[in-house]
Amino acid sequence: IVAACWRASQGKEIIPPRSDLEHSENFLYMISGRPPDEDGGRIFDSCLTLHAEHSFNASTFTARVVCSSMTSLHASISAAVGSLHGPLHGGANERVLQMISEIKNAHEVEDWVLKKLANKEKIMGMGHRVYAVKDPRAYVLEEMLAQYAKKKRDARAYEILKKIESVMCREMKKTGKDIWPNVDFFSGALYQLLNIPEPLFTPIFAIARISGWCAHILEQLKENRIYRPACEYIGDKNKKFIPLEER
Ligand code: COA
Repeated sequence: IVAACWRASQGKEIIPPRSDLEHSENFLYMISGRPPDEDGGRIFDSCLTLHAEHSFNASTFTARVVCSSMTSLHASISAAVGSLHGPLHGGANERVLQMISEIKNAHEVEDWVLKKLANKEKIMGMGHRVYAVKDPRAYVLEEMLAQYAKKKRDARAYEILKKIESVMCREMKKTGKDIWPNVDFFSGALYQLLNIPEPLFTPIFAIARISGWCAHILEQLKENRIYRPACEYIGDKNKKFIPLEER
């Protein structure tokens, strides 16, 4: 669906999958019309596997909450996609690429990062709600990016990312914050080397994560009880009502 929508949005003919290609190879073939080289297919397969499941992240939790009302699988997955769309979840790797395009080369990284931090802006692809260490998936993606960048003779993005990582590690150490590269830090640059268009980065996350979402939905439905967290009001009490025109 993602490949077909992309082709249609570009006014190009939709390419049907080939039965001799793997799922990952087929996606790359269906967006470009050319099957990937052996490394490209293997790397993209690993990327899909790395993104397939990651416990109670925002989109998976959303899927479980929505399906707990006994709505359809499709409605639950649509809700998960809505959550994934946000820049703090699935949209971060696209923003990592924007960051790389703003920086000309690795020598400019130091000033660029320090300016961002002074303005209290976040560095995309860094930090995680659960990990206080470098995301284990980032190690795998980094290694694949290093190898593939060498093969493609295009290491610019990799060098900039490694420099951002080292400046951030140094600066975060000073503040005592555990901010390390997450899964999105290296993936965008890898997708770029695979000639995947940027607008497809978040949909690719969905292609992978749909297996995790479905597994969670099936698990939830096995012993379902509707989610209904309690909430405690902690605001002011005995407030007076002020009519709208007097506010
Ligand atoms: N760059 C710079 N500073 C960061 C940072 C980043 N990427 N991530 C967190 N921080 C800082 C915050 O500014 C905050 O500082 P403060 O206490 O001085 O205000 C502190 O670290 C805690 O950040 P917070 O946003 O509360 O952490 P969180 O655990 O709620 O958020 C993320 C986790 C992932 C949402 C957050 O790290 C982030 O926005 N990262 C960038 C987006 C991204 O890569 N998302 C993909 C996640 S897989």
